[in-house]
Amino acid sequence: MVQRVRVQMTVDNAILVTGGAGYVGSHTVDALCRAGYTVTVLDNLSQGHRAAVPTAAELVVGDAGDRSLLDRILTARPYQAVMHFAARSLVGESMRTPTLYMGDNVQAAQAVIDAAITHRVGKFVLSSTANIFASSDGKLITEDSAIDPGSPYGEGKYMVERLLHWADRCHGLRSAALRYFNAAGAHPDGHLGEDHQPETHLIPIVLDVALGKRPHLQIFGNDYNTPDGTCIRDYVHVCDIAEAHIKVLDVLVDRSVRYNVGTGSGYSVRQVVDAAEKVVGRAIPVQIAPRRAGDPPVLVADGRRLRHETGWQPRLASLETMIATAWEWRRRHPDGYCT
Ligand SMILES: NC(=O)c1ccc[n+]([C@@H]2O[C@H](COP(=O)([O-])OP(=O)(O)OC[C@H]3O[C@@H](n4cnc5c(N)ncnc54)[C@H](O)[C@@H]3O)[C@@H](O)[C@H]2O)c1
Repeated sequence: MVQRVRVQMTVDNAILVTGGAGYVGSHTVDALCRAGYTVTVLDNLSQGHRAAVPTAAELVVGDAGDRSLLDRILTARPYQAVMHFAARSLVGESMRTPTLYMGDNVQAAQAVIDAAITHRVGKFVLSSTANIFASSDGKLITEDSAIDPGSPYGEGKYMVERLLHWADRCHGLRSAALRYFNAAGAHPDGHLGEDHQPETHLIPIVLDVALGKRPHLQIFGNDYNTPDGTCIRDYVHVCDIAEAHIKVLDVLVDRSVRYNVGTGSGYSVRQVVDAAEKVVGRAIPVQIAPRRAGDPPVLVADGRRLRHETGWQPRLASLETMIATAWEWRRRHPDGYCT
């Protein structure tokens, strides 16, 4: 009898995480393992790091678009859910190679969704993005705001959201599309963090300047219609995003959902630099560069639906905490997972 209960828990708790060796994926795998889930990570290590996968999780190195590999993984044991992080995610690169981006990301997602349907995995959580939304003229972006993807990357994510819509209608696969705004920070104990090549996110670049790895930060435009003229974004701590993935599993019983994952507060580039100077205790030189095409002045989520429907609460929401945890990671690992 005792043994039956133990087996039952293992079966109910298995989660397949594609892209689990990457930045957001690895923090989520860590949270899942700590919460008692049995986790299998599928990652081709194109951007991810073996060392980012907790030892409690199984790592399978391979491509999320490899249907026969997915079949092998999903027949090994019953899975409760798939969390699909694996994707190319450089917006600028997607503007240069749109067919590659949309092709790869949509094809891989299609394979994972098909495999989930075939193997009767009941729940699917997608890493979607704020990049699917039309410019909001500075208003908070709700789940029902107008969709008009700002790049082939965003368009591909929206196509995957639509695949999931029909996978539910036709096969009953319940899904959550989590539209992250800007993931930031690192695990508070300093063992996991952000390590992208190339790095395009603001906070790690600011910290590279603080470490002397870059001479200055380029600020793309200081003449926007915002209080200090620089762009405003909604930063969400990566551990809070991880927590959102666990929370949504409970609502995926009889319906599919889509949530904006943001704090509802925006910070300008200038405010990020000022806060970083306080955290690291040194000046961060900046250089003003021309605006980048397609950068909206303000991109801030109305994240109330996620909070109300799942009980999610961002716990590490202050800008200083996000920067301080990222700084701790960068100080301990100045060359990322290689150090
Ligand atoms: N970081 C953000 O601020 C942010 C914002 C919005 C959405 N997202 C989305 O969240 C997800 C995770 O973002 P991240 O910042 O952790 O990215 P990341 O690049 O750190 O992680 C992606 C992981 O997927 C793996 N991967 C990529 N293509 C693969 C494939 N075909 N098969 C197997 N593995 C593959 C990479 O090796 C990497 O480990 C992505 O889907 C991204 O588009 C991220």
